[in-house]
Amino acid sequence: MPLIGFGTWKLRHGQARASVLAALEVGYRHIDTATMYANEAEIGQALADSGLDRAEVFVTTKIRPSDAGRVQDILHQSLRALGTEYLDLWLVHWPPARRADSRQLWNELLAAQAQQLVRDVGVSNYSLAEIDDLTNSSGRAPAVNQIDWGPTLYDAHVLGGHADRGIAVEAYSSLKNTDLKDPALAKIAAAHDVTPAQVVLRWHLEHDVTVIPKSAHRDRTAANFDLLGFSLAPDEVASIDEMADR
Ligand SMILES: NC(=O)c1ccc[n+]([C@@H]2O[C@H](COP(=O)([O-])OP(=O)(O)OC[C@H]3O[C@@H](n4cnc5c(N)ncnc54)[C@H](OP(=O)(O)O)[C@@H]3O)[C@@H](O)[C@H]2O)c1
Repeated sequence: MPLIGFGTWKLRHGQARASVLAALEVGYRHIDTATMYANEAEIGQALADSGLDRAEVFVTTKIRPSDAGRVQDILHQSLRALGTEYLDLWLVHWPPARRADSRQLWNELLAAQAQQLVRDVGVSNYSLAEIDDLTNSSGRAPAVNQIDWGPTLYDAHVLGGHADRGIAVEAYSSLKNTDLKDPALAKIAAAHDVTPAQVVLRWHLEHDVTVIPKSAHRDRTAANFDLLGFSLAPDEVASIDEMADR
C-alpha cells in the first residue's frame, strides 16, 4: 500500500472525478473511497480517464456494516462502479454493534479475498480488542486499520499495538484533526521551507503511518503529495508527538 493516498470523502457531483484525476496527474497512486461516499462511479471514471494501467493504482473501498446481509452484491456494485475486476483493499467501514455480526462480516470479507476479487482485507475504526476478536475467531488478522489520527490523537501504545500485531495503521482526517496554525508546526515548517500541512503529513510517514489527505484543490493536492523531499529530525517528531499532551 503506497504510504501516501488520496482521500475522497465529501467529493461528489463531478468534484470526485475532477479531484481524483488531478490527484492521479500529480502522482498519487492510491485512492481511498467507500460505498458511503457515493462517489465510486466518479472515481471509476477518473481512473479510466487517467489512462493509467489498473495495476498502477492501489484502490481501497469500504463496506458499511449495515450492508452485512448482502456482501457479495455490495462488492460487485463497488467493482462495477470503480470499473475494476478487483480491489486492492476492502475495509469494514466501522465495527458492527454485535460481536457475532462483526465475526460473520469479517469471514465474508475473507471469502471475497479467497475468490481473488479483493487483494487484501482490513477494518476501520476498530479498537485493538475488536481486532483481536476477529483474529482469534478467524485465524486471520486485518491487514490494515484505518483510524482517526493526527498529532493531537498521538498515542504510542496504539501505534505499538498495531505494530505488534503486524497491522498497518492508516490515518484519516489528519489535517482536519490538526490546528495548522499551531506555533510548533509553524516553526518546523519554516525550518524546512514547507507548509504546516506538509509537516503534519510527513510526521505520519516518520511513524510509518499511511496518510490519505483529501482536497478539492489541485495546488493543495499536489503539496500534500510532495512529502519526500524533506524529513523530520527525531526531536521535531517528538515535539509533534507532544501536541497530544497539551
Ligand atoms: N474510515 C473512516 O471512517 C473515515 C472517516 C473520515 C475520512 N476517511 C477518509 O480519510 C480521508 C481524509 O480525511 P478527511 O477528508 O476527513 O480530512 P483531511 O484530509 O484531514 O482534511 C480535509 C480538509 O482539509 C482541507 N485541506 C486539504 N489539504 C489542505 C492543505 N494542504 N492545507 C489546508 N487545508 C487542507 C480540505 O479542504 P479543500 O478540499 O477545500 O482543500 C478539507 O476541508 C477522507 O477523504 C476519506 O477518504 C475515512
